[in-house]
Amino acid sequence: MADGNQGKGKVVITYGTFDLFHYGHEALLRRAKELGDYLIVGVTSDAFDRSRGKLNVKQSLIERIKSVENTGLADKIIVEEFKGQKIDDIRKYNVDIFALGSDWVGKFDYLEEYCDVVYLPRTQGVSSTELRRMTAKTLRLGCIGTGIFTDRMIREASYVSNVRVLSVVAADADGLKADSTYDQYKSAESFEELADIVDAVYVNTKPALRPGVLEKALEAGLHVISEGPIAFTVEDVKRLQKLAADKGLVLIEALTAMYLPGFQRLKLLLESGIVGEIKDIDASYSIVPDSLDFRDRYSSNFYNMSSRTLLPALVYLGAKPKDVQVICGYEQDMCTWSKYNLLFETASATLKTGRGVKTEGDMTITGTDGYIYVPAPWWRLEYFEIRNEDLRDVKKHYYECAGEGQRYLIKEFYLYWSDPAIYDMAKGTLEELEVATVGIIERIGSDQCITLANHSSRFGGGENV
Ligand code: CTP
Repeated sequence: MADGNQGKGKVVITYGTFDLFHYGHEALLRRAKELGDYLIVGVTSDAFDRSRGKLNVKQSLIERIKSVENTGLADKIIVEEFKGQKIDDIRKYNVDIFALGSDWVGKFDYLEEYCDVVYLPRTQGVSSTELRRMTAKTLRLGCIGTGIFTDRMIREASYVSNVRVLSVVAADADGLKADSTYDQYKSAESFEELADIVDAVYVNTKPALRPGVLEKALEAGLHVISEGPIAFTVEDVKRLQKLAADKGLVLIEALTAMYLPGFQRLKLLLESGIVGEIKDIDASYSIVPDSLDFRDRYSSNFYNMSSRTLLPALVYLGAKPKDVQVICGYEQDMCTWSKYNLLFETASATLKTGRGVKTEGDMTITGTDGYIYVPAPWWRLEYFEIRNEDLRDVKKHYYECAGEGQRYLIKEFYLYWSDPAIYDMAKGTLEELEVATVGIIERIGSDQCITLANHSSRFGGGENV
């Protein structure tokens, strides 16, 4: 059955990857639109591109869709997920004309059985392949702060083309210093010295040092990825964001989950109304580390983990909750457990985070037509189910999360660094997200929350039977 574009006049469909969107793409879309009255644009999913051997696509599906959307030429944008989809789409949308650039002449003649096939002249002198080649400069990355997160970042960066880790330095209250564990990397004793060696830094210091280190790194002209929120007050966040903007630098938090293919795909599915209107998000994120310093308030779960915990609610429901209620449990000076109730205009969210407290790490997104269930660990977003009233009708989605996942974040950071236009497109949303997260953290820091009585002993003190 045709899907809602009856009465739209002559329907034209075209497909493409639209990576690093250029004027050739825009001209093609304009020509395609001129062939009829209603233009449908199919944008290839990351998994589909990989399956057909196109491995070097720079931009994520969401960014590529956004570029097509920005032209204002597409009446509808769909995602091309598998090989035989074109015939399905042509039937489903009652397509009259299938149009593609002249580099494809003859390749789609088999579709003439279903509609007219038109090959449009390709714009000379520009292609995504060429742009990818031109942008392929090497990003020299440094790490400030040592330990398992840094080791993982180094490992993951080795999977991203054109990124090389050149320097690793430790940081304490006095500044930067060498760490002999990392002596295969260059060291530096000042931020200026580091800026001579690398273009950007991954900052993984103790939380209390983080905002100061970020500021010095930005002042020295370094682009920054921050492990954890970039500051602990909205005022400081905005100041650092402004400093980065004034210097033309990229400043992002290492929100790994947000860059994973599954997280991005779920966002698109939710926006397309896959479960109707979202009414609630319920998710948890918890770890029990080997050791914790209960006297250090900055070790608290909300300084370290809130941004990850709050992420699905602030991305899928928007970064402007109308009201926030927080419940915190402490051990000495450190918050080990918190529960955030977020109220939006027509939806709610409950997010729980534990550091030294463990719970199930799954996520449920409740909608008016069904719900999404993401089993633990939801933050890898490799697998989720779309469920509804009929419990036998479960749609299962699988999206690969390669390695430990940071490679997707690093790839995105590389893109922001190498193409300021792409960063400009993403920046507003990222900044808003950071401000919203830290706004919530700040409420906790200033005691605008309900506090549970102090725990008497670590991990509950129960006996093993
Ligand atoms: N296109 C065009 N003129 C160009 C480049 C692309 O008309 N200079 C058309 C293609 O023919 C196709 C659509 O734009 O119909 C989307 O193309 P896509 O493959 O995404 O872009 P390319 O720049 O060709 O990318 P690549 O180099 O990765 O093949």
